[in-house]
Amino acid sequence: MKTNIEALIESLPDSIVQHIQHLERIRQDFVANVSHELRTPLTVMHGYLELLLSQLEINHPWHKIFLQMQQQTARMENLVENLLLLSRLETEVQTKIAPQPVAIAKLLSIIIKEAEQLSGEARHVISLEADNNLTLHGTEQELHSLFSNIIFNAVKYTPARGNIQVQWCYENNKAYFVVKDTGIGIAAKHLPRITERFYRVDKARSRASGGTGLGLAIAKHVLIRHNGKLSVDSQVSKGTTFTCIFPKKRIFIAK
Ligand SMILES: Nc1ncnc2c1ncn2[C@@H]1O[C@H](COP(=O)(O)OP(=O)(O)O)[C@@H](O)[C@H]1O
Ligand SMILES: [Mg+2]
Repeated sequence: MKTNIEALIESLPDSIVQHIQHLERIRQDFVANVSHELRTPLTVMHGYLELLLSQLEINHPWHKIFLQMQQQTARMENLVENLLLLSRLETEVQTKIAPQPVAIAKLLSIIIKEAEQLSGEARHVISLEADNNLTLHGTEQELHSLFSNIIFNAVKYTPARGNIQVQWCYENNKAYFVVKDTGIGIAAKHLPRITERFYRVDKARSRASGGTGLGLAIAKHVLIRHNGKLSVDSQVSKGTTFTCIFPKKRIFIAK
């Protein structure tokens, strides 16, 4: 079904549509260029700050200052990498790597280990139930970004010792990736906007956990490129379930 915006664009004269597409390209190029230009200076600053920190005793009066500077440059580097990834996902029609069968169960077991590290002292109970025979035609790197963003969010927005269930299964000709948490939840009024760039329900909380507000925007674009759909079901203070649904043409089941 067409969205209102798509229907509106179709009703416009060609010259205006071309102008809108041109402006959109300028916007995308601008973001990509700024991000690219910031990359090198940030790497240099981060490197020097790390060197300085390694030379300072922990109780030196400047240690805390340099530590904060180093953490902030790391945050900026993360932001720049995320912006570059997002602009690649938006502008490249297809990745240079041809879609290949990706062993999702294996990929998920790697991401779960990373999630356990992220959880650390919070000791979330993370479980994985994945169909080993179910593979997806796609780009492994992009799928890693998609699945890890959703799983890491579950860790970040679930209080210590909460439960996180990850599932990869097949039903009625479709493949389902499901992440269910017992976390803080998302109020209904925010749900339509959470995949927008930089949209965060609680900015301070997101920042404190190292978030850039770009994770779900990246997830949405990877899904579009894999003909997938996202559905989110949530209750405040109870938990959230993210479901990614992939169509038959993307799935392969080993007998
Ligand atoms: N599992 C979750 N539980 C509660 N809130 C979530 C969850 N996943 C995402 N959110 C909300 O959606 C926002 C956008 O997510 P994301 O794009 O990944 O950005 P961030 O970098 O802030 O994690 C988050 O800031 C958070 O408010
Ligand atoms: Mg996130």
